Amino acid sequence: MSVRKESLISLEELTKDKILYLLEQAEKFEAEPNRRILEGVVVATLFFEPSTRTRLSFETAANRLGARVIGFSDAATTSSTKGESLKDTIMMVSNYADVIIMRHYLEGAARYASEVSPVPIINAGDGANQHPSQTMLDLYSIRKTQGRLDDLDITLVGDLKYGRTVHSMLTAMRHFSSRFRFIAPAELEMPQEYKEYCCANHIAYTESSEFSYDVINGSDIIYMTRVQKERFTNLMEYESVKDSFILRNQMLKNARPNLRILHPLPRVNEIDQDVDSNPAAYYFQQAKNGLYVREALICHSLGIDI
Ligand code: CP
Repeated sequence: MSVRKESLISLEELTKDKILYLLEQAEKFEAEPNRRILEGVVVATLFFEPSTRTRLSFETAANRLGARVIGFSDAATTSSTKGESLKDTIMMVSNYADVIIMRHYLEGAARYASEVSPVPIINAGDGANQHPSQTMLDLYSIRKTQGRLDDLDITLVGDLKYGRTVHSMLTAMRHFSSRFRFIAPAELEMPQEYKEYCCANHIAYTESSEFSYDVINGSDIIYMTRVQKERFTNLMEYESVKDSFILRNQMLKNARPNLRILHPLPRVNEIDQDVDSNPAAYYFQQAKNGLYVREALICHSLGIDI
């Protein structure tokens, strides 16, 4: 099979047209998820960091399209523990697979892999940097529930410093004219570079350390995030901020009827379980949408349209 190399490392490299095209492709996969269009293809999933949703939904996507999957979910079982470099690992796996889906704890690792790899790389999360496939499923979920990506009030809550999903989302939203609120404790506020990115790309935002009723009642989307324990070097600091914001069902009494609550998951304490039965809770469906979006992303990386 002839493979056209089209890596996905950051939303920065996707035009508005390409994003909308991929969302439309994902809609087709939602209508018909089982299509044996990747028979003979081998997909590698290399997870140097833990994952439930991203790895399993990418692997399910590959399986539902008829591809075979190789890879690892624990780098401790690989020759990287013997000192093999990331470059050599990528070169080896590209001997076996047609596309590599990779999560790594180092920011920039996916970009580096794409520069040395003869096969496409899909970034499944690199440190606190980017998580582009998550953003694509977030955009899919927002568009599906709100009917549009423009003219929305989107509130990002929690760990905006280390949360790669919110960083990726801002990169994508430069193409759309929605308004953001950044709600975080001072220690976890949105990094300056992303605030400058918003200014440079005309993304309207306000920021606060208060998760108030005004904020909740004025939101179309509330995007909760977990405080990323694994990114802290000082666990005392983590303990002091880990429960800064907890969304509870009674806080949603006067929310907009179209409000949807998203979360990339996993959650720890930041959404109380009593929210799960609220019609605004959308995070489990959001994760399910990841399957259709990742079917589209794998096909796109291989130059296959449906
Ligand atoms: N949203 C997300 O990346 O979840 P996992 O860490 O379980 O893959």
